[in-house]
Amino acid sequence: MEFPYGITTNSPEETESVGELLATAIKNSPDLPRFVAMFGDLGVGKTAFVRGFTRVYAPEAAVKSPTFALVNQYGRRPSAIYHFDMYRITDEDDLYSTGFYDYLSGEDICIAEWCENIPYAIPERYLRVSIEKTSFDAENERRISITLI
Ligand SMILES: Nc1ncnc2c1ncn2[C@@H]1O[C@H](COP(=O)(O)OP(=O)(O)O)[C@@H](O)[C@H]1O
Ligand SMILES: [Mg+2]
Repeated sequence: MEFPYGITTNSPEETESVGELLATAIKNSPDLPRFVAMFGDLGVGKTAFVRGFTRVYAPEAAVKSPTFALVNQYGRRPSAIYHFDMYRITDEDDLYSTGFYDYLSGEDICIAEWCENIPYAIPERYLRVSIEKTSFDAENERRISITLI
């Protein structure tokens, strides 16, 4: 996978495959950031993307949106994935109390939905994944853009 990367998908399975591609790239390139920041509205397919992503590191894991838990762990260290959902995070105290900053310090892989809500907390180097619906008519079409920041 080369960055910037862009693709249009037409099903959740295709979006999962793109997640799988990104995780494979991270696994094979120690120089890539360990933080994946996801942007995009409710229902665009962020959790679907994480599902494919997680398959590379923790194939047995059942990926669910951590909207209430704030963070889910899949797999075990040293190849654990921490899956955040920042939907309900309103300020930095909130974020701090999830233990977010502790996860960032290690070699662990973090992937976070709703990074719109935590602009001040995104690490300096990260992979930015943005998912958007393309048009009102194409219900299952999504544009996925991945950039290396
Ligand atoms: N191309 C696509 N990629 C991802 N999800 C899609 C796509 N087309 C339709 N969907 C549907 O959109 C929804 C995405 O849900 P989810 O992954 O939970 O989104 P989010 O985490 O962004 O809120 C699912 O119901 C899925 O079936
Ligand atoms: Mg979600």
